[in-house]
Amino acid sequence: MKKTKVLYDREFVIGQVDKRIYGSFLEHMGRAIYTGIYEPDHPQADEMGFRKDVLELVRQLNVPIVRYPGGNFVSGYNWEDGVGPKEKRPRRLELAWRAIETNEVGVNEFIEWAKRANTSVMMTVNLGTRGIDAARNLVEYCNFPGGTYYSDLRRQHGYEQPHNIKVWCLGNEMDGDWQIGHKTAHEYGRIARETAKVMKWIDPTIKLVAAGSSGPKMPTFPEWEAIVLDHTYDLVDYVSLHVYYGNPEKDTKNFVAKSLEMEEFIKTVISTIDYVKAKKRSKKVVNISFDEWNVWYHAHLEGKDQKAEPWAQIRAIAEEDYVFEDAILVGCMLIALLKHCDRVKMACMAQLVNVIAPITTVKGGIAYRQVIYYPFMHAANYGHGVALLPKVNSPKYDSKDFTDVPYIETVATYNEEKDEITVFAVNRDLEEEMQVEFKLDGFEGFEVVEHIVYESDDIYKGNTAEKPDNVVPHKGGNSKIEGNVLTSILPKFSWNVIRLKKKEN
Ligand code: AHR
Repeated sequence: MKKTKVLYDREFVIGQVDKRIYGSFLEHMGRAIYTGIYEPDHPQADEMGFRKDVLELVRQLNVPIVRYPGGNFVSGYNWEDGVGPKEKRPRRLELAWRAIETNEVGVNEFIEWAKRANTSVMMTVNLGTRGIDAARNLVEYCNFPGGTYYSDLRRQHGYEQPHNIKVWCLGNEMDGDWQIGHKTAHEYGRIARETAKVMKWIDPTIKLVAAGSSGPKMPTFPEWEAIVLDHTYDLVDYVSLHVYYGNPEKDTKNFVAKSLEMEEFIKTVISTIDYVKAKKRSKKVVNISFDEWNVWYHAHLEGKDQKAEPWAQIRAIAEEDYVFEDAILVGCMLIALLKHCDRVKMACMAQLVNVIAPITTVKGGIAYRQVIYYPFMHAANYGHGVALLPKVNSPKYDSKDFTDVPYIETVATYNEEKDEITVFAVNRDLEEEMQVEFKLDGFEGFEVVEHIVYESDDIYKGNTAEKPDNVVPHKGGNSKIEGNVLTSILPKFSWNVIRLKKKEN
């Protein structure tokens, strides 16, 4: 059996895990909102039209923050269309995803939904077709207590108290030609700065996210970040990163190594932020909001997207039927985020329901968990406290795009309050199980609570409406601890969560 050694030490801390690293995203796109979270005719709909079965699955995921309303959608969005009496709301041509937007759900409804889902809202403003004026009015509408035009409008709409939205994104993917109102880095940097300035004048407590590159392969990356931050450094708190991976060539070994590229992406953005910090002689630290990440390619490759007629009210696009190998990469991506939690303070799996999502709904029918639901749920429920630096001595392999890929990917968190350690580990090996010896220096008297294993006899298996529990995790993992050495057998091609707690005397 292949063997790996891992060293963790109580003193070797990467950083505090900000729970917002387990955020998600809901855009007015495809069936994310309409027939996703909102379906008034559904038997499970509540008094506002929100599906209670979907809410339950979201609550189990333990998502602390949800980005809204886009995405590309926001760059053509008039937020005023979505407030006030529903019968007066306009139907609009929605150009980003070529649909009809009825505006039945808008800012207030989304905030109501977020309360029911035990989450908070990360609001994006339109810096595509609009700018400073619409953004400042939206902050006034949401966060100002009352006595002004927009705050009183909110009160007239039934919301006496301000919504107090704390995190705001300054536009979305403005570096991309596909974006309505695409800009050069200087153009975006200027408008982002001026918008940030007035938004913070209205509410100085808000935190702002500057739109970084749409991905590491963009020709303007990382110069985009350097220029944008040059304009905005003193006013913004985070820079956004986005990435989606796919495996159209069916090269699984290469596919599951793509989290290494994600880590390089994070490291380059950190360097760029810190370069601007040094250039400005600033003491302020700007952090990262990795506010779109996931696997995304199935629906397009299978031709499902191409069949969705344009200008429909409900246009089912980007409905990924995930397979088990996607869950393994998602696990590696979660580990990558945790390994950089000293600077990655927020992240959003994109998205949450139906569109590139861990939850799928059948219109009028059930809601079920895609295979990628489980690693996210485990991390969001157990990955709290501080993240511990992994020192890993694992056998390695080479693939098409990567050399020296460790078979074992791991990170651990230590929750001091509960005196609990959680070890997350992926075995990328498609052929063989691996014995891993985790040395937990500085941790005495811990016992194994459970070893959750997520594995599948077929890496192309997924969950479907007919078989919603086709691939589910089990608790039959093989782990034992002697002193401070935890020895675990990680089955071939598996995601593992080993939970330890201090023994009671
Ligand atoms: O999440 C889907 C889309 O992907 C978003 O609208 C956009 O920001 C990204 O390109």
